[in-house]
Amino acid sequence: MNRLTNKRILLGVTGGIAAYKSADLTRRLQDEGAEVRVVMTHSAREFITPLTMQALSGHPVHLDLLDTETESVMGHIELARWADVILIAPATADFIARYASGHGDDLLAAVCLAAECTMVVAPAMNQAMWAKESTQTNVDLLRKMGVNILDPHEGLQACGETGAGRLMDVPDIVTRVANLFELGLLAGKHVVITAGPTREAIDPVRYISNHSSGKQGYALAQAALEAGARVTLVSGPTNLTAPDRVTLVTVESARQMLEAVMQSAPGADIFIGVAAVADYRPETTAEQKIKKQSAEGMTIKLVQNPDILKSVAELREGRPFSVGFAAETENLVDYASRKLEAKNLDMIIANNVADSSIGFNSDDNETIVITRTGQSPLPKSSKEVVSRKIIAAIAEKLAADSEQVA
Ligand code: PMT
Repeated sequence: MNRLTNKRILLGVTGGIAAYKSADLTRRLQDEGAEVRVVMTHSAREFITPLTMQALSGHPVHLDLLDTETESVMGHIELARWADVILIAPATADFIARYASGHGDDLLAAVCLAAECTMVVAPAMNQAMWAKESTQTNVDLLRKMGVNILDPHEGLQACGETGAGRLMDVPDIVTRVANLFELGLLAGKHVVITAGPTREAIDPVRYISNHSSGKQGYALAQAALEAGARVTLVSGPTNLTAPDRVTLVTVESARQMLEAVMQSAPGADIFIGVAAVADYRPETTAEQKIKKQSAEGMTIKLVQNPDILKSVAELREGRPFSVGFAAETENLVDYASRKLEAKNLDMIIANNVADSSIGFNSDDNETIVITRTGQSPLPKSSKEVVSRKIIAAIAEKLAADSEQVA
C-alpha cells in the first residue's frame, strides 16, 4: 500500500552537494503516492537545476519570494497552507541557522515562518560544520519548536572527510516522513463524517439547499485519515474529490443521509456531523416541473427533516463518540452549548458563520471546541489546519474519557 497517498509534501532544497539527491527523493515520495512541490533556494540552483525538479515534480518550481508571477499563482502563505508536510532536504547549516532565528528573507525561509503544518528537516553538511556548537544549538532550537530532525548519517563525505553529516539515505527519509502519518492519534478507529449540504427536492428541477461546499467535512476526513483512522464520508452534493482512502457514500437529501449514516455509524468509534442538513423539506415533491402560477405567489409547505446527529447520539447500542458542528451568526457559545445538551453530544464545534471569510464555502474557518468540561478556541486558519486541531481535540477527549472509565 502506498504510504503517502494523497499527502502534499513541499520539498525545500537548499544549496549543498547533496541537493542532487532531492531529485531521487522527489521520485520516491511520488512512488508512495505523495504530491510533491518544490521550493529551491538560490544556492540550491548551483547544484541542481529548477528544470530538473520541475520535470520530476510535474509542477513549476518556486524560487523567489518576490517573483510576482509565482506569487500570484501560489505565494509563500498559500504554499505553507497547501502542504501537509514541509520537508527540507538537504538542509544546510546556513539554512538551519536562518530557520532557527526566524528569518523570512527568502522564499523557503518565509514559507517555514508561515507554516503551521508538520516540519521535517534533513541536514547535510561537512562533519565539522555539523559538530559545531552553533549548528547543534540551532538544531536543538528547531527540535524545541517541534521540527522533526532527520539526523545525518555517518560515512565518507563529498569533501573527502569521514563523519556524521551525510544526508540520511533517501529511502529512510521517505519512511520517516510516512511514519509521521502512520503514528496516528486515531489509529485503528472508525470515523464516520457527514459533509456538504443536502438538497430537498421541490420538483424534478428545483430544490431547497444551502451554501455548504463540503470543504470542512472533506478536510476533516483527510485529517482523520492522516491520524490513522478508517473513514466513511457521507457527503451531500459537492464539487470536491474525496481523499483516496475514504469510503465515500454520496447522497442528496437529509433522509438519504440519515439512511446512509445509520448503515455505518452504529458501532463506529466516532461520528462527526459537519453537514449542513436542511432542517425542513417540502412536504411533497411534484412529479413534474411545477408551472408558473398566479402572480400572487405560491406557497410550499415544509415539514421537518429527521435530525441525523441526534439520532446517532441517542443510539442505545454502538453509540459512537458524537461530535456536532453548530453554525451560528450570533451568541456562538451559548447556542452551541444548548445544541450540545439538546442533541446529547460529547463535543460541539461552534462555527461562527457571520463573517463570509470563514464558515460556509470558504477556505478558512474559525471555531471553538466545546465539551461539558471546557472550551478551547481554534483561531482562524485553513480548514485543513482547523481539522487537524479538531481531530487532536477529539483524540484527547476520547483518551481522557476512557481513562475515567478505567
Ligand atoms: O461545507 P463548508 O462550506 O466547508 O462549510 C462548513 C460548515 C459551515 C457547513 C460547517 O463547518 C458547519 O458548521 N456545519 C454545521 C452546519 C449546520 O447545519 O449547523 P446546525 O447548527 O444547523 O446543526 C447542528 C448540527 O446538527 C450539525 O452537526 C448538523 O450536521 C446536525 N444536523 C442538523 C440538522 C439535521 N436535520 N440533522 C443533523 O444532523
